[in-house]
Formats: sequence, C-alpha cells, structure tokens
Amino acid sequence: MRGIRILNISWAIVFATLFHSYSAQTTSPSYQCSEFFVPVNVSAQTVQLNVTNPQNQFELTNLLTQMAYTNATIDQDVTIGPATVNDTFNIWSQLCIPNDFAADGVVEFTAHGSTFNHTYWNFRNGTGYNYAEAALRSGHAIFMYDGLGEGASDKPDGIQKVQIGTEIAVAVALVKQLPSLLSFGKIVGVGHAHGSVVLIAALAQEGNLFDATVLTSISSTTAGLSAGLAGMDIEIATEAAPEIWQNLESSYAVTGGFTNDQIGYYLYPFFDTDVFVEMQSGRGLVTLGVLLTLPANSVAQEYTNPVLVVTGDHDFFMCGGVCDVAVGDFPSMPATVQSLFPSASNFTVMIPENTGHVMFMHLSGPDIIQSIQDWMDGTV
Ligand SMILES: *[C@@H]1O[C@H](CO)[C@@H](O)[C@H](O)[C@H]1NC(C)=O
Ligand SMILES: *[C@@H]1O[C@H](CO)[C@@H](O)[C@H](O)[C@H]1NC(C)=O
Ligand SMILES: *[C@@H]1O[C@H](CO)[C@@H](O)[C@H](O)[C@H]1NC(C)=O
Ligand SMILES: *[C@@H]1O[C@H](CO)[C@@H](O)[C@H](O)[C@H]1NC(C)=O
Ligand SMILES: *[C@@H]1O[C@H](CO)[C@@H](O)[C@H](O)[C@H]1NC(C)=O
Ligand SMILES: *[C@@H]1O[C@H](CO)[C@@H](O)[C@H](O)[C@H]1NC(C)=O
Ligand SMILES: *[C@@H]1O[C@H](CO)[C@@H](O)[C@H](O)[C@H]1NC(C)=O
Repeated sequence: MRGIRILNISWAIVFATLFHSYSAQTTSPSYQCSEFFVPVNVSAQTVQLNVTNPQNQFELTNLLTQMAYTNATIDQDVTIGPATVNDTFNIWSQLCIPNDFAADGVVEFTAHGSTFNHTYWNFRNGTGYNYAEAALRSGHAIFMYDGLGEGASDKPDGIQKVQIGTEIAVAVALVKQLPSLLSFGKIVGVGHAHGSVVLIAALAQEGNLFDATVLTSISSTTAGLSAGLAGMDIEIATEAAPEIWQNLESSYAVTGGFTNDQIGYYLYPFFDTDVFVEMQSGRGLVTLGVLLTLPANSVAQEYTNPVLVVTGDHDFFMCGGVCDVAVGDFPSMPATVQSLFPSASNFTVMIPENTGHVMFMHLSGPDIIQSIQDWMDGTV
C-alpha cells in the first residue's frame, strides 16, 4: 500500500490480522482506507477520585446534578490527589490515504467529541456530511480513532482510568506513532468539542505537536456548561441501551436519548431529522472519570503555528446558545480561545449561522467541512 511504512513487528501483526483494504472496489479508485487497533502505551497524569461505580441511576443522577450546580465544587470535593496511569490500551483506528499521496503530503489527525466515535468524521460516506472524504478530495490523508472508552476502543475503569489526562496521553502517543504508519510532510490536528479540549491540552503540554490546528465547536467560556451537562441527563449505559452496551461498569453513561441530544447538540429546524436519528442512534459513551476531570483551560504558550476555530452560532454547550456576542475585548465567545494561544502565528474564527454543537450534522455541515479544507489549503 503506497505511503505506508511498517516499521516494527507489532505493526506488522496488526496489519496482517486486521488490515482491510477497499482498493479492490471500483467505486473509490482515488484512495484507500484501512482499519486496525493501535496498542498505545501511556504514562498518564490523572487524579485519584473518591468515587465508586454508581450503584443505581439515582446515584449517577445525583453526581450529574452536583456537577451542574452554580459554581460546582464536586470535582475538587472528590479529588484525593494526583495519580499516574501506566497502561497499554487498544485504540480502534482508521487511516485513509489518497493513492497519489506524496511523502511531503498533509495528514489530518482527528479527535471526536464525547458521546460520539470516529463516525463523526466518516458519516454517510458519499454525501456532503462526510468529513473524511472532503479531506481526501483535498489530497490529504486522514487518521481517525475511537477515543479511549468509546466506540470499539478499550473500555477500562471509567473512573480512575478514563479521565482527561489519559485521553491527552493517548492522543499524544497516537500522533507520535503516526510516522510509523505513514510518511507525511505536515500534520494538522482537527478536534470536535471535547476532542478540541483534548487537543488544546495536548498543545499546552507539547508545543508544536501540529503544523496547524482546527478546533471546532469550542469556546473558552463556560457559559453553557451547567445547563449543557444537566441537559445530557446521563444514564447508566448498560441499563439505558442494553441492545448496544453490555458488560460495562456503571461509570459508563449515555445521554438520556433523542430529546436530550437535540437540546445540547442540534438546532431545529436546521438539520435533517433522518441524519439526526442515524447519528444519535449510536448512543455513544461518556465516563464519570472524564466528566469529573474536565480541565481548566491551559495556555498553549509554546504553540506558534496557525489556529482556526469554528463554532456554530447557536452552540449550547460552549456558548449557552448564543455565540456571536462580544466577551470583554473578544468579538465573540469562540474568539476567547485566542487567549489560550498567545504565540499562534495566525488565529482565525468562523461562526457558521443556524448551527448547533454537532456542526457537521446540520444543513450547514457540508459548507463548514469544505471551509475547513479551504483554510488548510491556504495555510499549510
Ligand atoms: C466509502 O465507502 C466505500 C465503499 O464501501 C469505501 O471503498 C471507502 O473506503 C469508504 N470511504 C471512507 C472514507 O471510509
Ligand atoms: C508498549 O509496551 C509493550 C510492553 O511493555 C512493549 O512490548 C511495546 O514495545 C511498547 N510499544 C511501544 C510502541 O512503545
Ligand atoms: C471519601 O469520601 C467519603 C465520603 O463520601 C469520606 O468519608 C472519605 O473521607 C473520603 N476519602 C478520602 C480519602 O478523601
Ligand atoms: C459563583 O462565583 C462567582 C465568581 O466567583 C461569584 O461572583 C458568585 O457569587 C458565585 N455564585 C454563587 C451562587 O455562589
Ligand atoms: C509509570 O511510568 C513512569 C515512566 O514510564 C515511571 O516513572 C513511574 O514510576 C510509573 N509509575 C507507576 C505507578 O508504575
Ligand atoms: C459509532 O457511531 C455511529 C453513529 O452513532 C454508530 O452507528 C456506530 O454503531 C458506532 N460504532 C461503535 C463501534 O460504537
Ligand atoms: C490569518 O489568516 C487568514 C486567512 O486564513 C487571513 O485572512 C488573515 O489576514 C490572517 N491574519 C493575520 C493576522 O495574519
């Protein structure tokens, strides 16, 4: 397969057992995708949480309620102190590479949001909603993965292990392992929502991990956090969606269902309800460990490359539903993210209209996806 180098034995085994090429199909002659598990070793900075698996839905709902309090202190109240997670996790990954990909080409590294999986980037193949195909049409390779505790990736202890610190370590490790899979020239990080939060933290830690960064559905204000959390109405995953999730600890939750997802993620009537149902039927996961360790935004002082922020004008989680209003010296809520990137060479903000938090699944999605590719083409 062009563009791919297999450097060590573990990768060779992964490919031999799990490699799945679509190249034989005549419908997609211009690129090839492969799917595999990446074993990722991490030594992650986490915290020890004084929380055990909820014994029932009342306990879980009580925790969420306390997280949604005004000036909530539950995170600090249950934090005992710093901890380290040294472990190896299997991360489900998908890599798509244009057939004519050059050794100096651009690869996009994508990180999806909470309660979703990599499908956010690879939805309805063959339509404008599909981000991966837009990237490939631009000649870029694209790496997608199911986050730790999501989709088909490992689902370890959802309190002590699946926390933001572990998610950051997994993202950084995957970026650093990417050259063993593919020769490329530049790498662009692309995050959605919680995935953007993870990438910001990774850049604060690592500096120029990416040559350019696209942060979508993000703001550094917490205007919508309390109502957004409450609106999720999380439920124990194995009880709420036993047809999808079995054998998970009760620290793994899903949102309450379609009406909850509409509140937090969508703006009616600016989406196709079939698209909504198809995307939200997956009942993606979120762990208590992640909800209890959402970071105070850290400043990516050493990051000197360009940043693009794209947040829908009615993002409920990030802006409390109204993004395009000035905050202090910043012209809009999403523009506040600039305070986290004091050294970025360029900082650009786009606020698409009639768009909620899960941007790509709105009627505006295809245009937004194309705008992101256009920005990259003009930037890296
Ligand atoms: C889209 O579907 C076709 C046909 O199944 C497949 O060959 C191709 O790899 C898919 N593209 C992506 C980005 O997954
Ligand atoms: C991960 O750890 C295992 C066991 O310690 C080791 O065999 C493997 O080489 C490590 N992989 C990487 C990519 O460091
Ligand atoms: C954990 O919380 C319980 C109350 O819920 C408290 O009694 C106990 O002291 C806490 N443990 C630590 C180590 O903070
Ligand atoms: C929450 O914190 C803000 C800022 O510290 C403070 O002004 C406000 O009074 C607090 N609200 C409550 C209900 O404690
Ligand atoms: C975790 O790994 C780090 C570095 O790999 C090591 O320094 C530390 O002692 C390990 N901690 C535990 C608890 O195993
Ligand atoms: C990923 O999400 C999609 C869309 O919700 C869903 O159809 C699919 O089943 C999910 N995959 C896994 C492995 O959870
Ligand atoms: C940042 O880049 C955009 C194009 O992506 C350009 O329009 C803008 O002038 C640039 N800003 C600065 C300060 O260079």
